[in-house]
Amino acid sequence: MTGNHAQPEGGPHGGPQGGPQGGPAGEAVIRVRGLVKRFEGRAVLEGIDLDVYRGETLVIMGASGCGKSTLLRCMIGAQRPEAGSIDMLGRNLCKASEAQLEEVKKRFGILFQSGALYNSMTVAQNVALPLQEHTDLDHATIETIVKIKLEQVALREHADKFPSQLSGGMKKRAGLARAMALDPQVLFCDEPSAGLDPVTSAEIDRLIMGLTRGLGVTSIVVTHEMDSAFAIADRMVMLDKGRVLRIDRREWFDNLRHVDDAGAEALPESEQIIRQFLRGDASGPITRRRDAGSYADDLLGPKPPARPGA
Ligand SMILES: Nc1ncnc2c1ncn2[C@@H]1O[C@H](COP(=O)(O)OP(=O)(O)O)[C@@H](O)[C@H]1O
Ligand SMILES: [Mg+2]
Repeated sequence: MTGNHAQPEGGPHGGPQGGPQGGPAGEAVIRVRGLVKRFEGRAVLEGIDLDVYRGETLVIMGASGCGKSTLLRCMIGAQRPEAGSIDMLGRNLCKASEAQLEEVKKRFGILFQSGALYNSMTVAQNVALPLQEHTDLDHATIETIVKIKLEQVALREHADKFPSQLSGGMKKRAGLARAMALDPQVLFCDEPSAGLDPVTSAEIDRLIMGLTRGLGVTSIVVTHEMDSAFAIADRMVMLDKGRVLRIDRREWFDNLRHVDDAGAEALPESEQIIRQFLRGDASGPITRRRDAGSYADDLLGPKPPARPGA
């Protein structure tokens, strides 16, 4: 765990850091290098480098549509990148065969935005599914594990309900129980608190931390909710225009968030962008860039679509 809460010296930039990318000197469980992902010729990820260390929580942030979910889907092997490499738990996912990919997939859990439960199955049946698919455990053992997993997310009394009978927070908790069913080494969460009220999302944050920290589970969490991000992150990464704008310890981002307006003017533009994002300010470089973009489009007309093969 990165338990060092010392404030970096000299403000948010230029402070001393532990290992590379502000990480501990420990072992990288996931190593992403030069990752490029395109859709219909349009690059969404344009060369992403990042490491995720054992036992840490890395929060992925960035504007809507900037490629956070795409990065996550590449990391779980659900999408093949056009270039670059992803080493996960010692295996290069981009070169892995289907069988090797399946083997790695057993070792991580995924919590999608919607919870992604099967509506025709009860909560208990949803949680049992990965155990039935990926293990040879007998029925009674699976039943016991399901009870333990549901107890951990305080849903044991609701085991026989269907997803349609659950509140939003309960669905996420059921999704989390299912993601943790196989005792994964790595947990991926895409916007785990999207659509929840602040109290319920704080509960989900606490549950994720309770189920990962201490057990040494590495987690990668996409979120744009800053309270949540700062509550759970050891390190954070900010994506912008398909690139990593900054990856560093939570404390670095926390310091930047608290730089006052006068101090902000002296910051490099990349840090001004991150600061505006973290604070949710209505004005700043993100807004200026957006306005400039739409004005240029307005004057010159929209760019023609790329010709196929061009
Ligand atoms: N399967 C796909 N086909 C085409 N375009 C896609 C696909 N998935 C994502 N995109 C596009 O890639 C960009 C990034 O999407 P996404 O990773 O979902 O962003 P985020 O999660 O940061 O909001 C968006 O412009 C989106 O429209
Ligand atoms: Mg997304």
